[in-house]
Amino acid sequence: MCGIVGYIGSRPVYPLLVEGLKRLEYRGYDSAGVAICDTTARIYKCSGKIRDLEASVSGKDTQGTAGIGHTRWATHGKPNDVNAHPHVSGNGHFILVHNGIIENYSVLKAKLQDRGYTFKSETDTEVLVNLIEYIYLKGKTEAEVAVRLALTKVAGTYGIVVICNDEPGQLIAARRSSPLVIGIGAGEYFIASDTSPLAGQVQSVIYMNDDDVAIIKRNELVLKTLATDEPRIKLHNLNIDTGEFDKGGYDHYMLKEIFEQPVSITNTFRGRLLPDKNEIRLGGLFHVMPRLQEAGRIIIVACGTSWHAGLIGEYLIEDLARIPVEVEYASEFRYRNPVVGPGDVVIAISQSGETADTLAAVRLAREAGALVLGICNVTGSSLSRETDAGVYTHAGFEIGVASTKAFTAQVTVLIMTALLLGYKKGSLTKEQYASFIGELDSIPASIEKILADNEFYLNLAKEFKDFPSFIFLGRGYCFPVALEGALKLKEISYIHAEGYPAAEMKHGPIALMDENMPVVVLALKDKSYDKIISNLQEIKARKARIIAIVNEGDTLVPDIADRVISIPAGSVIFSALLAVIPMQLIAYHISVMRGCDVDQPRNLAKSVTVE
Ligand code: AGP
Ligand code: GLU
Repeated sequence: MCGIVGYIGSRPVYPLLVEGLKRLEYRGYDSAGVAICDTTARIYKCSGKIRDLEASVSGKDTQGTAGIGHTRWATHGKPNDVNAHPHVSGNGHFILVHNGIIENYSVLKAKLQDRGYTFKSETDTEVLVNLIEYIYLKGKTEAEVAVRLALTKVAGTYGIVVICNDEPGQLIAARRSSPLVIGIGAGEYFIASDTSPLAGQVQSVIYMNDDDVAIIKRNELVLKTLATDEPRIKLHNLNIDTGEFDKGGYDHYMLKEIFEQPVSITNTFRGRLLPDKNEIRLGGLFHVMPRLQEAGRIIIVACGTSWHAGLIGEYLIEDLARIPVEVEYASEFRYRNPVVGPGDVVIAISQSGETADTLAAVRLAREAGALVLGICNVTGSSLSRETDAGVYTHAGFEIGVASTKAFTAQVTVLIMTALLLGYKKGSLTKEQYASFIGELDSIPASIEKILADNEFYLNLAKEFKDFPSFIFLGRGYCFPVALEGALKLKEISYIHAEGYPAAEMKHGPIALMDENMPVVVLALKDKSYDKIISNLQEIKARKARIIAIVNEGDTLVPDIADRVISIPAGSVIFSALLAVIPMQLIAYHISVMRGCDVDQPRNLAKSVTVE
């Protein structure tokens, strides 16, 4: 969470910082600030969004060609002007922006207070900037040495960019667990939390690794590690279409991303799903396929929506490839002393590839000797660099905080993986494999069909937007979809919503049902269809309002449900890809009608890089 951007070169820095922060705003948006520092530093910061910062800076001196900026998602201290970054050290020698948490900040703070430091903010970050200054003044060292020494005393996570007022013309950056990427131009450098501010600006990037320290001057970049002076530089080409940062005529990024799904799934297929040859090729898994086929079990770790995709992965892999699968919240897995070892395959799923808990689970599994694979959307992310192998989802930049196209891309990768594994293990015949490949190829067209009914979802949202609480029910492949539907609604419209396996309803949630409770039921034509019909009757008997999602041609459900949404019929293994679309649209329209901030819902951030 929180976005960092820095620039040093010959161009006016302020517009570059503001543009960069806007692209990073999805990472955190409770307050923002910039420091412009050529000779004398000027710092502007305030609570609110980047547009509030721009308004407060208007008319002030923003001249300069070096600076740093920050958009915050508060961990320590309220989102107010004082707690906003950049933070300045007590004697004004250092300015710093930070992403992460300094876990031992209270011990360090007490020590610094004993030595005469006072604190203006409630943040852990201000402790770090003062610690750097204390070491700098006491040791009479160079700024770089002070930063490196201070970081050895810190427990927790950080991505930082530091300016020393005594050494102008230099940015010092360092990371542990919080991502930072350096953009390399001609006589200029950028530093940012991800590549979005660099798109259209530079062609080459360096992804910083944990414990890297970068000393960035206009004409020189030196990359070291915290422990040694050994340089470590590896350039990567950056190839991002800046059009990805436009809303493309849609009112919100989320709506754009919902409508992009036929294309984003086609991009996930590209070069992998080959219907003409009846083949699936997953180049990223090629070398590990034998080990994957022999796995005694697979453990999937993820958070949030990616965890829901993982649950669908469990159904898919067990169903098609007959390998036992467990799905774990990464945050629980990492602290639970899990039984995991060399015979296991762990698949980590993450849109951003930077989720702190997922990365920690990956590290734990690797140390235990498991083969660790990643399913990830952001190229060059920490996850992609820390796993043994993996598959990129290629859904394109997802900017709306509520995940939509990244989810369907993850499910698409899981379907392809399960089909390939099933075929290789012999649990799918050649004919079944070919038929599933053909059907998967037609999914983007089916999604297109569902999206064409946007008006219908708008009306449905009008009817249901004022209910305070919703229940989502599904069975089998549709149970994780029910969870995802509930998450979408609650995160962007702030309506309480719960997802349940439909049969579990009788074990508690049915007590909630009355005429004020809308219940969204996934009643697709699969092997539990008859059971779902009984569940619908049970709900109806309690007078709850039923919104049912059915396959086209269903004749039974319309007699029971209050509202019916029809989606194209097909094999059960693809049902999640289709059934989730109406849920995304309902959540989106309700959120808009309730006047919520769809793309940047309160209290959330796109990428959860802290625990
Ligand atoms: C999705 O709508 C959420 N905002 C959130 O649950 C998200 O899926 C979760 O934080 C995991 O993120 P990741 O996929 O980037 O790891
Ligand atoms: N811990 C810092 C703060 O509360 C940084 C938070 C972040 O990474 O978003 O300001």
